[in-house]
Amino acid sequence: MNNRRKIAAGNWKMNGLRQALSEVEALHAANPNPNCEVVICPPATLIRSMAKICGEMEINVGGQDCHENNAGAHTGDISAEMLADTGATHVITGHSERREAYAETDALVRSKSQSAWAAGLVAIVCIGESLAHRKAKDTLEIVGAQLSGSIPDGATGENLVVAYEPIWAIGSGLTPTLDEISEVHDFIRAQLISRFGEATGNAVRILYGGSMKPDNATEIGALANVDGGLVGGASLKAADFSRIVAAL
Ligand code: PGA
Repeated sequence: MNNRRKIAAGNWKMNGLRQALSEVEALHAANPNPNCEVVICPPATLIRSMAKICGEMEINVGGQDCHENNAGAHTGDISAEMLADTGATHVITGHSERREAYAETDALVRSKSQSAWAAGLVAIVCIGESLAHRKAKDTLEIVGAQLSGSIPDGATGENLVVAYEPIWAIGSGLTPTLDEISEVHDFIRAQLISRFGEATGNAVRILYGGSMKPDNATEIGALANVDGGLVGGASLKAADFSRIVAAL
């Protein structure tokens, strides 16, 4: 056993109008005193209202991305400082959908994570291999390179959460076997310890993401180096997400 507190993090992606805020109230009603940390990353348009609703609840609110600069001529972008200003405490960086659709590199993800820390946010840094890499048995090599390239120096157990999300498992209903998940999470733990030292390396939470559901969250969450989940589809409805929160 370790003393890392598990995290149930919901990534709503580009889903949710104002009426979806009622899901947060329903989640709170279902788990008023969760054993794990709960974070919801709604679209940026809902952060302010969600943070207000969550003020009295044990639910944290996060962004799904941030720009690497604090301010400037970057039409359409939002900075980490702005997310913090509007009530967010966390931000996802390097999600595979952004790495793919916006060609985000490890170096950019590292800058974004750095600016998240400068704004006082917890960075949830995402890494994960494609199906082609998995089939070519390159998973650990890819994940190792993303890990060292995407995480700035100065990580602590408080400012960094790593999310391992195999791209082929996201939104597909497919998940790696428990042994495959363990292999990657154990590898990430070893890499974190070798770079940041025993204490910090053991304190950083490592989440699994990719088709986590109420019916697989218990067994995945029980693996030694799995400290919770980053959940997309199953975080949208309180009925599902509250079961994942309870499982973790
Ligand atoms: P999913 O998404 O749970 O819908 O597979 C996870 C994610 O992309 O963070």
